Amino acid sequence: MFAARRAFAGVAQSRAFSASARDLSKVTVLGAAGGIGQPLSLLLKLNPRVTELALYDIRGGPGVAADISHINTKSKVTGYDPTPSGLASALKGAEIVLIPAGVPRKPGMTRDDLFNTNASIVRDLAKAAAESAPEANILVISNPVNSTVPIVAEIFKAKGVYNPKRLFGVTTLDVVRASRFVSEIKNSDPVDENITVIGGHSGVTIVPLFSQSSHPDLVGNAELLQRVQFGGDEVVKAKDGAGSATLSMAMAGARFAESLLKAAQGQKGVVEPTFVDSPLYKDEGIDFFASKVELGPNGVEKIMDVGKLDAQEQKLLDACKEDLKKNIKKGVVFVAENP
Ligand code: NAD
Ligand code: LMR
Repeated sequence: MFAARRAFAGVAQSRAFSASARDLSKVTVLGAAGGIGQPLSLLLKLNPRVTELALYDIRGGPGVAADISHINTKSKVTGYDPTPSGLASALKGAEIVLIPAGVPRKPGMTRDDLFNTNASIVRDLAKAAAESAPEANILVISNPVNSTVPIVAEIFKAKGVYNPKRLFGVTTLDVVRASRFVSEIKNSDPVDENITVIGGHSGVTIVPLFSQSSHPDLVGNAELLQRVQFGGDEVVKAKDGAGSATLSMAMAGARFAESLLKAAQGQKGVVEPTFVDSPLYKDEGIDFFASKVELGPNGVEKIMDVGKLDAQEQKLLDACKEDLKKNIKKGVVFVAENP
């Protein structure tokens, strides 16, 4: 009787242990004191799936961490200064590394104008991640995403630790915007508006597929298309030199991280459009592409085809591919010339 009880307790204990071990999720934010970094870190602190939050920035990481650590949720928060050991400690053991480090746009700039500054920032952070967190899911937010994601891939390849299933360009803000803008037109709840957005994350590389939504009538709506493709410019203009989208981006980044954590913790059918190493257009020389991706415990579970497109959307996709190819190549060449 006792033996049976003890055995049962043992099973219960080991189940509890394995469940909690699996549920330990360290999330690291690189660029945590910035316009995106701070609200993103706040939202991650509010997420019960996150058990440890590591906040790193070239300035202000420990301050943001001290502030956020007073929030009465369970996760442990640590802040790190820009020393090599600080960066390594922030990264060690991370399941997810979010990278919003880098400069934002000012009015009149394109995302590509950020390349000269942000390419080397992302390259150096990728080197540190490849060394200290080679198995983490890397979520790249820093612009231009179409080029910074290939930069991370090249660095991980050079270090011999590249896993294409664990690298994501965060394009969630395009999806968030599309659903919000559609809901404004249709007077609906944005929660019910699932708009797939494919391609990349800048101007014409952003291709919303309204034909696949419950509002195919929106396909030819030029004003809506302009808002989805150039929504970032609206914010840059309105902030008038003070930066680009930060709060909506924080929400989008936190949503993507939450989706990955859900999938890692065993939830099935978690799908997010995201910019990944993709087979879809490799034969055309396009190694990265955003489409709907099913997430799983190993990161990318399944990359979905773009599906059936309307003729107008096909034209948008053709324009997207032309730009995307150049943007990707620019990132690859940068690492080759500036390893
Ligand atoms: P920001 O200037 O407010 O913050 C950037 C932070 O990065 C700063 O705190 C800075 O100290 C830090 N930083 C700079 N170099 C660093 C380094 N080497 N290591 C660690 N931290 C470093 O800018 P922001 O508004 O937060 O935007 C950040 C980036 O995100 C920009 O490139 C912006 O274009 C991009 N962005 C992307 C999306 C998207 O949808 N993917 C949306 C909005 C903004
Ligand atoms: C956005 O889409 O808001 C971001 O990429 C920032 C920008 O420069 O527009």
